[in-house]
Amino acid sequence: MSIQISKLAEQKQVDGLDFPLLITPPNADVSNSEEATLKWIKENKADLHKLLIKHGALLLRGFPVSSSDAFERMLDNTDYENMPYIGGAAPRTQVTASRIVTANESPASEKIPFHHEMAQVPTPPGYIFFYCDIPSPVGGATSILHSAEICDTFFEINPEFANKVAEQGVRYIRVMPEITDTSSAIGRSWKDTFQVQTREEAERVMREAGMDWEWMDNGDCKTYTNVLPAIREDSETGRKVFFNSLAAVYTGWNDSRNKGETAVLTANGDTLDAEAMAQLVNAMDEKCVNFKWEKGDVMWINNHTVLHARQPFEGDRRILASIAFKESA
Ligand code: FE2
Repeated sequence: MSIQISKLAEQKQVDGLDFPLLITPPNADVSNSEEATLKWIKENKADLHKLLIKHGALLLRGFPVSSSDAFERMLDNTDYENMPYIGGAAPRTQVTASRIVTANESPASEKIPFHHEMAQVPTPPGYIFFYCDIPSPVGGATSILHSAEICDTFFEINPEFANKVAEQGVRYIRVMPEITDTSSAIGRSWKDTFQVQTREEAERVMREAGMDWEWMDNGDCKTYTNVLPAIREDSETGRKVFFNSLAAVYTGWNDSRNKGETAVLTANGDTLDAEAMAQLVNAMDEKCVNFKWEKGDVMWINNHTVLHARQPFEGDRRILASIAFKESA
């Protein structure tokens, strides 16, 4: 296998494995030529996929990925099938014709809490890919957290509450505006969220997604997801994972329309245990890796076993993202 493994200052070990795993070009040809990089990706995609499943996150650093188009070409040379961004909460902009969008464009001063991408939809993406076009001069780390590790912690903090959440599952409730509100991290309009123009079209998408809804007088749409599992066993690794949006929704879904504490409920309608959630959020910050971007970095994340977050930042920052269906390469 011509995969070069290197060491990263910020990385940690999870179950004795580098997290994230740092991969650098195996030779000068690959580090200097995009064509050689694409060929290398194509030849090593199966091994890279195995490493992604084993470690949860891969950082590809030092490869000549100089633009959003080059990032797209890299992904086009894998077997990962592009997934459109339908149902996510964050404001985003489409960057390339097919698979690249901006990462969550919510305000720089706000931390984006830990989440699995689109954990609140019935079929979340299997993988998420990030590309650093412009690293921020101050802050702006993407934080990654192994979901199996934090799942164990969740059960240690308050076993009774954890078992209730695991057994019942949870429901997410979100009020979406008619026009996207970029002042809010969850301000994506129902039109953009469902990629529709009319209420009838929105209702069709929501029905297909198993959601309930209520139309408000001002054009807002209050949405209720099905009861979704909060603790899952990952099919590829067999690990029990904290696959949900509990922390993100409970702490982060606050704006003029929503209040985090009532935006996620267990199946019987109870709010979450405030003390357990506070301890959980602290544990997430202690156990995560705050990964500092360099221009041209690409990160591959197994969205089913790793959570991500974004630290606040100052100055320009442009991180692009792409998601793919869960399918073996
Ligand atoms: Fe995200």
